[in-house]
Amino acid sequence: MAFNLAIVGATGTVGRAMINILAEREFPVGKLYPLASSKSVGKKITFGSQVLEVTNLDNFDFRNVDIALFSAGAHVSEQYAKIAAKSAVVIDNTSHFRTDPEIPLIVTEVNLEKLEEYKHANIISNPNCAVMQMLVALKPLHDAAKIKRIVVTTFQSVSGAGKKGMDELYDQTKQRLMADGLSKKIFPKQITFNILPHIGEFNEDGDTAEETKIIAETQKILDPNIKVSATCVRVPVFIGHSESVNVEFANPISAHEAREILENAEGVLVSDDPERMIGYTTPIETVGEDHVFVSRIREDKSAPNCLNLWIVSDNLRKGAALNAVQIAEELVKKYI
Ligand SMILES: NC(=O)c1ccc[n+]([C@@H]2O[C@H](COP(=O)([O-])OP(=O)(O)OC[C@H]3O[C@@H](n4cnc5c(N)ncnc54)[C@H](OP(=O)(O)O)[C@@H]3O)[C@@H](O)[C@H]2O)c1
Repeated sequence: MAFNLAIVGATGTVGRAMINILAEREFPVGKLYPLASSKSVGKKITFGSQVLEVTNLDNFDFRNVDIALFSAGAHVSEQYAKIAAKSAVVIDNTSHFRTDPEIPLIVTEVNLEKLEEYKHANIISNPNCAVMQMLVALKPLHDAAKIKRIVVTTFQSVSGAGKKGMDELYDQTKQRLMADGLSKKIFPKQITFNILPHIGEFNEDGDTAEETKIIAETQKILDPNIKVSATCVRVPVFIGHSESVNVEFANPISAHEAREILENAEGVLVSDDPERMIGYTTPIETVGEDHVFVSRIREDKSAPNCLNLWIVSDNLRKGAALNAVQIAEELVKKYI
């Protein structure tokens, strides 16, 4: 059996990654409809051995679609996802529905049991990229020793801000090396040769929108009782988000026990060899990889039942496109 899929935002970084992953994993696709804005109409997209033309979302009729993967910004999902959901199941990559109590927010290794709640609105939400990779690693530790509090600092790549974010890092790097001015449209300050403790708008209490998402989405997906403190930093890396995570547990857990648990956890790859100088993973090593990599697993001796971890993953794959495709795989296996 084959399923018709629409990719909304097919020309974007996440949209393209979704199309590639569908082909790689041999998802049973009947027809694939790549959709974007009017300015992309007629652009060519490769899907496996097929070359498809992008069409305009504005005039698209979703009635022939089984699953619609949305990845074109929250305002586009706000306008079109419910229209698509009248006939197709929508998997939404944007922030628009993530905190809606009616809509399940799914990380496939963490809370797949909530998937059937999609039937309320025919919509499933895909979490924020920084949350997704963190929770793949923390869920098995929560099961083992019950997490009380998480303090996370993220180091997020520019691809998290889409294609224009990657272009800005490339352009600014060339400009700085050639002493040729500095163009700045996407990031609030220079991103090349710099880091910015600022992702999304600041709210009244001083947190940024990205930090607020990490707190709210962690509580919705993993456990509403977990306290979360987040600081999100944009770094001049093209792909791959890194996170320094301090976790406080209700029950004792040693670094050795945590390492053993993570070595057997779905979706996780432990690369943690403190004896060797290179026994850890960096963002560039995760590009194109599906796993969440965990390194630097150690006890935090400043407080009881606390561990420190270094968590890295390709934000375009497990952080966005891969999880969306895994949700689609589960839908066709169990529900559609
Ligand atoms: N990048 C990440 O790591 C990541 C992770 C998780 C979630 N997300 C979310 O996924 C979404 C897309 O992110 P991205 O990084 O792929 O962005 P991107 O590279 O900027 O791509 C945006 C896509 O949306 C399309 N689009 C924009 N406005 C549209 C409109 N009015 N009608 C139809 N299509 C429209 C664009 O089409 P045109 O080319 O025609 O403009 C393009 O295909 C965002 O909501 C983002 O927050 C991103």
